[in-house]
Amino acid sequence: MTAILELRGIGKRFGAFAALDDVGFDVGEGEAVGLIGPNGAGKTTLFNVITGFLPPDAGSIRFAGQSMDRLAPARRVACGLARTFQTAMVFPGLTARENIAMAVRQHAGDGLRWFGGTRAAAAAAQTAARLLGDAGLAHRADTLLCDMSHGERRMIDALMPLALSPRLLLLDEPTAGLTRAESDRLLGILRRNHADTALLLVAHDIDIVFGHCDRVVVMDLGRVIGCGTPAEVREDAVVRRAYLGTMVG
Ligand SMILES: Nc1ncnc2c1ncn2[C@@H]1O[C@H](COP(=O)(O)OP(=O)(O)OP(=O)(O)O)[C@@H](O)[C@H]1O
Ligand SMILES: [Mg+2]
Repeated sequence: MTAILELRGIGKRFGAFAALDDVGFDVGEGEAVGLIGPNGAGKTTLFNVITGFLPPDAGSIRFAGQSMDRLAPARRVACGLARTFQTAMVFPGLTARENIAMAVRQHAGDGLRWFGGTRAAAAAAQTAARLLGDAGLAHRADTLLCDMSHGERRMIDALMPLALSPRLLLLDEPTAGLTRAESDRLLGILRRNHADTALLLVAHDIDIVFGHCDRVVVMDLGRVIGCGTPAEVREDAVVRRAYLGTMVG
């Protein structure tokens, strides 16, 4: 499988504390990789390093065959490396369609002309409507975000970066606060309707990760302690001792 993301020897220290220590793994094109590990394992720190928000102290990141090491976050997004928007980027007083259309236009570089009523605005609204339709949310397109359920808003959070048609989407706990059925629906949509977009998914519910990911990487104390298919990781003695032992029967 061709790798879309290649991480090698990533290290990140906060003072004397090593939050990431020699982290290395690949994500293949269109592959869904789960990233699991206990609180403080370094998962979010790794996302911040991959997206360019935190400079690593060691190691290298290649994306789509190109070194990301010197690229600013926005340049990485332009290469097709997207992450879920911070909740603060979502406008509760706008409708679902308007929020996603905003993300489309921001990506196109004409976010400031949002209120211009141009042809670009119509095209962005159309893209937004298509994404909502794919997610089974067409009937909610004109609903204000503040009137939507937590599950629906999480869905919108995940749809926003898809407006960019990314080659890799980093999802940091997108299913937090969702029911199992809502989580399955969200991951099902991402995998089914956006099969060309590779996923790197952090979630604490390991059944969600094992159920939807092709491969799983396990971290503990800043290091990768296991990697493989869900079945392999479930059986891995080191992983079971360090992390899964109490969680998997
Ligand atoms: N800016 C920072 N300054 C100092 N320490 C930090 C900083 N960011 C993270 N850390 C520490 O690095 C470690 C890894 O944190 P990180 O948030 O990456 O863990 P995580 O795996 O995402 O955990 P969780 O599952 O709770 O989200 C933690 O011990 C955390 O306290
Ligand atoms: Mg985290």
